[in-house]
Amino acid sequence: MKTADLQIGFEDVTIVAGAVTLLDRVTMTIAAGEPTVLVGPNGAGKTTLLRAAMGLLAPSRGKITWAGEEHSPPTRRAIVFQRPTMLRRSTFANVAYALDAAGAPRARHAAEIVELLALVGLDHAAERPARRLSAGEQHRLALARALARRPAVLFLDEPTASLDPASTKAIEDVIRTVSRRGIKVVMSTHDLGEARRLAGEVVLLHRVRLIESGAARAFFDAPSTEEARKFIAGELLV
Ligand SMILES: Nc1ncnc2c1ncn2[C@@H]1O[C@H](COP(=O)(O)OP(=O)(O)OP(=O)(O)O)[C@@H](O)[C@H]1O
Ligand SMILES: [Mg+2]
Repeated sequence: MKTADLQIGFEDVTIVAGAVTLLDRVTMTIAAGEPTVLVGPNGAGKTTLLRAAMGLLAPSRGKITWAGEEHSPPTRRAIVFQRPTMLRRSTFANVAYALDAAGAPRARHAAEIVELLALVGLDHAAERPARRLSAGEQHRLALARALARRPAVLFLDEPTASLDPASTKAIEDVIRTVSRRGIKVVMSTHDLGEARRLAGEVVLLHRVRLIESGAARAFFDAPSTEEARKFIAGELLV
């Protein structure tokens, strides 16, 4: 896949639901490369932006484009929500279901499941009921299911929220691995340390607006807005 095909454009995107504005005049481009990390306080619009970029929420005004096209969100995208739901079956069968849903030929299933479970470090838990896995393990299983779709772009909504350092590291390692393999990761986090560790590009949202976006190093070393400066300094954005 050409890198231009990965490009997602937001042009003056506003999303409203009833009287509530979920996203306010956001203009940005998500391009191939290292992960794009969305940061910002609760209610900033991170989940909304991810859902819109995935094509699950349509703009009320403005437009969203995928590889320059407005009406054709590509199929090769996957999203992992903040609280993924496990099917009431084994870890192995959860991935098998995802492969089936993605239309992968049955003959390849067993080998792919083994590979995906190894990638997320769950090979030892293949036969365990998925709902008995720990929260961190369930997140990793959700990642394996998303990867079963062989996405070109992977959206992750707070993939490490409320996980301990070891589980967080396990997830971050998977993110780095798939990113190196050329999958574009677009994720949200509350954790600035995580953004520093993973981001090629950072997007700061606050009160459903885009405050600042840019290369991670520039964002952290020389933020150009007062909000970004405060956020990086650990002051509360209210
Ligand atoms: N379907 C909806 N109807 C009404 N308001 C909504 C809806 N979805 C989101 N919102 C509101 O839109 C704003 C942005 O929400 P969003 O979930 O995108 O924020 P977030 O940055 O993901 O926050 P958090 O860090 O808490 O997950 C919030 O004020 C939220 O209450
Ligand atoms: Mg959210």
